[in-house]
Amino acid sequence: MAEKVQIKVVVNGVEHHSEVEPRLLLVHYLRETLGLTGTHVGCDTSQCGACTVHLDGQAVKSCTLFAVQADGSSITTIEGLGSVDSLHPVQEGFWEMHGLQCGFCTPGMIMAAADLLNRNPQPSEEEIRHALEGNLCRCTGYHNIVRAVQYAANKMAGKVGVAADD
Ligand code: FES
Ligand code: FES
Repeated sequence: MAEKVQIKVVVNGVEHHSEVEPRLLLVHYLRETLGLTGTHVGCDTSQCGACTVHLDGQAVKSCTLFAVQADGSSITTIEGLGSVDSLHPVQEGFWEMHGLQCGFCTPGMIMAAADLLNRNPQPSEEEIRHALEGNLCRCTGYHNIVRAVQYAANKMAGKVGVAADD
């Protein structure tokens, strides 16, 4: 067995010191070591985006990184984005605009969308679709996901939370 490596990460504002195998993927560290199972694994080809988290403020697919590569970093998962009592605007948008069906892709979609709105607070529909290209959904057809992101953009801009095509 490979020698374990000590890492220190801050996840959802909590500091963790862990000993991990060098080959442990970040997504498995989050799910199995820390118990943060809101981050999903939907493929083994780095294509589905279900595992998307924020690493030092940027969306990354956590199945494409080893946990050791996150050493010293700050990570936000879906559990740290909002709370039941205070949803993040993107979470609220998915709720209000029916942006999910089975929900498997939803944590990754929400993390990718939140990253987009951090970089581009008023994206066009084309920019939303482009930003979410790396996140696959088998259920929704994407239309309501786009509307959910538009809702969130409007909400964050202080406008009423309705999508542009309502
Ligand atoms: S599980 Fe990471 S991209 Fe599919
Ligand atoms: S809601 Fe089922 S995969 Fe997206």
